[in-house]
Amino acid sequence: MKLAGWWRRRSLRARLTMVTSAGLAVALALAAVLLASTVRSALINGLDVGARQGAVEVATLLNQGRLPSPVPVPPDTVTVQVLNAQGRIVNISPGADRLVPMLAPGLAREMARTGQARMLAGPPIGMPSVLRVVAVPARGQHIVIAAVSFAQVHDSLATLARALFIGTPLLLGLLALAIWLVTGYTLRPIAALSRGAASVSGTGRPRDLPVPPARDEVRALAITLNDMLSRLADAQQRQRDLVSDTAHELRSPIASIRAQLEVALDHPDGVDWAETARDVHADTLRLARLAEDLLLLARLDGQPLRRTPVGLAALCAAAVAGYGPARVPVRVTVPSSGAGAGAEPCVVAGDPDALRRLLVNLLDNAVRHAASQVCVSVRSETGWAVVTVTDDGPGIPAADRERVFGRFTRLDNARDRTGEEGAGLGLAIVRSTAEAHGGSATLGDARPDGAGPGLRAVVRLPLTS
Ligand SMILES: Nc1ncnc2c1ncn2[C@@H]1O[C@H](COP(=O)(O)OP(=O)(O)O)[C@@H](O)[C@H]1O
Ligand SMILES: [Mg+2]
Repeated sequence: MKLAGWWRRRSLRARLTMVTSAGLAVALALAAVLLASTVRSALINGLDVGARQGAVEVATLLNQGRLPSPVPVPPDTVTVQVLNAQGRIVNISPGADRLVPMLAPGLAREMARTGQARMLAGPPIGMPSVLRVVAVPARGQHIVIAAVSFAQVHDSLATLARALFIGTPLLLGLLALAIWLVTGYTLRPIAALSRGAASVSGTGRPRDLPVPPARDEVRALAITLNDMLSRLADAQQRQRDLVSDTAHELRSPIASIRAQLEVALDHPDGVDWAETARDVHADTLRLARLAEDLLLLARLDGQPLRRTPVGLAALCAAAVAGYGPARVPVRVTVPSSGAGAGAEPCVVAGDPDALRRLLVNLLDNAVRHAASQVCVSVRSETGWAVVTVTDDGPGIPAADRERVFGRFTRLDNARDRTGEEGAGLGLAIVRSTAEAHGGSATLGDARPDGAGPGLRAVVRLPLTS
């Protein structure tokens, strides 16, 4: 438990280094053991071959009856004893024991039969070192025993073991260091990213994170993060703009109220209080409307909609009914309900208040700019309810038709026929409402061929079924 906690607190670099080093340590140890045992068996095999060769040569001489006494062997190579059928020593090489056989006769016979070799301690039989012994049969039930010294092989193996014992940990250490350096190098872009992110959160000012040149995952991460940061920066900028625009917009009605009240209070006798109250009231209405619009926009931005089935045709008819006394006539075209009276073909799931507000904003604009009339239509079109509000006023140049959806965007419209001034939030609310319902809002020419004056606002909302 404690160990797991400790492990989790290590850096990624340390953990990678430790895991790979542990794996390498096991692999290197196995390799060292394998190497030592292979070399050992190869060397012993060489000794056995040498001893057997010497024994076979002696046996051949014996078989041919030409074996002299003592047995002729090159000095310091093999030690030979020849046993007769009774197990007694009948011949030896110079320096070998004449009385005691190196192998008990039974064992020697057995080894001669199977051809195996074995180790033998030298000192008990008067030899300086450990020996490797073989036995070979010869004519007349003789047995030739040959022994070679194991000392040199032993020394070689000891040297090899020492080299492995020192070299393997040294190699492991070097490899671990290399892994540590390489992982550090590999993780450097991530460290740079986190330093960049720290400076972003430290200063609160978004700036680009460093993008590494290698086309790898870290680069993809850096690019994604930079994307995100620039979107956040944009959002932050929009928010700041909105706040400053809002403050700006609030300033003029407040200044107007203040000026009127100050004048009235300074000269209480020469003032028409009723008129002052009316003017102040008008300014207050502007403020109230602005506050409401902003609140509505904030809600459309941040909250999921309350959704109920809303019949758009009925909603339009009701909204248009409110424009009876408007300065131009407003006509409404709704789909004829084929399946009997009351059937409503254009039903969307949405917030009725928000949708009513959308229509009112479009109708206000149209009525304000129209020359002679306004037409409202509702129809359904493969899954969509399409509401259009068309006027025959001056229209909006194509280049400005997207821009006017921005918050606080007003055009200098000299031909505005009423002189009353909105805050420039109307179309922004229209678009936000449409998008919150999964739809869209656009502006276009009043007539499909683009001929003639006027503007057509088109709102598309997804039908419920
Ligand atoms: N039907 C229209 N005909 C001509 N211009 C329009 C029409 N509707 C909107 N506009 C222009 O678009 C601008 C933005 O409209 P809107 O967002 O509703 O703001 P507001 O009505 O508060 O001025 C208006 O200032 C106006 O100049
Ligand atoms: Mg408006």
